[in-house]
Amino acid sequence: MGARTPFRVLRLPRKAKNALYLNPAKGGVGRKEGEMSVQNPPKVTAPSLRAMKAAGERIAVLTAYDFPTARILDDSGIDVLLVGDSLGMVVLGHASTIPVTMEDMLHHTKAVARAARRALVVGDMPYLSFHLSVEESVRNAARFLKEAGAGGVKIEGASAKRLRLVEAFVEAEVPVMGHVGLTPQSICGLGAYKVQGTTPEAARRIIAGARDLERAGAFAVVLESVPMEIALEVTSRLEIPTIGIGAGPHCDGQVLVFHDMAGYATGYLPKFVRKYADLDSVIGDAVRRYAADVRKGTFPDDETSYHLKPAEARRILGALGRPRARRTRGAR
Ligand code: KIV
Repeated sequence: MGARTPFRVLRLPRKAKNALYLNPAKGGVGRKEGEMSVQNPPKVTAPSLRAMKAAGERIAVLTAYDFPTARILDDSGIDVLLVGDSLGMVVLGHASTIPVTMEDMLHHTKAVARAARRALVVGDMPYLSFHLSVEESVRNAARFLKEAGAGGVKIEGASAKRLRLVEAFVEAEVPVMGHVGLTPQSICGLGAYKVQGTTPEAARRIIAGARDLERAGAFAVVLESVPMEIALEVTSRLEIPTIGIGAGPHCDGQVLVFHDMAGYATGYLPKFVRKYADLDSVIGDAVRRYAADVRKGTFPDDETSYHLKPAEARRILGALGRPRARRTRGAR
């Protein structure tokens, strides 16, 4: 299958697709294809993402780490807000995702969950939060739902041990998103962030891993940094949606790190990022103008200051004793 293979052959006739898609009781999102309800939008859930795949509707996912950004993304119709452990790099300034802790993740997931009215919030399980015992892993996964208000969690990898974890999470009523291809928490073993699945054996492992995750009960699977041809293979073999990042156009949905796509204080940008804004220069320009106004004494001005009524000013200043000489604007 080549790069120009059509997106996907849908298995349901249009009427059946819409019936499924419109009916929230069957996991549908309660609106027609392409339609976006603004007032009281129905919540996106793990099952409704599957209904979106069945209806051939692509899923728009972005990472979010704080309340105001999450509010903008939710209001703009993003389906899933992924509180990625990429927060370690783009928000906390670490060199990798390895140092990120459960407490970091819960703190940021709570802020995002407070903002999300429609989007499904998925919390990324950080390194070492699901590597020791099954019991500790389930407890950590459940904290994302119980304490932080997420609707699901994401874990990296598809080893036999990880698959048992996915089953244990689902058993504990925690919806799970899988993640195969490049798994950044494996950076110390991988040596570098690079494209995965470029040999027949590696491609077979990615396809098998994604299928195993579906069988274990995952509701979606992230495909990171894999050739588009392999992503198409995975996507056409799964009933659950694939969410691509650096995996080409054939996935059921796409995710990007918000700071990368918005041009917000990032250094190196991978090839797969499309920059939709340049927040770095928007914010830098605003801050430079503010600092210049403060230094010139033109901020704050009358309009941005509180005032007393003249009679009140006379009474209060009189009670304070002899008024001090008024400083003029620009005086040091
Ligand atoms: O941590 C993250 O942001 C992620 C996505 C980019 C898939 O895992």
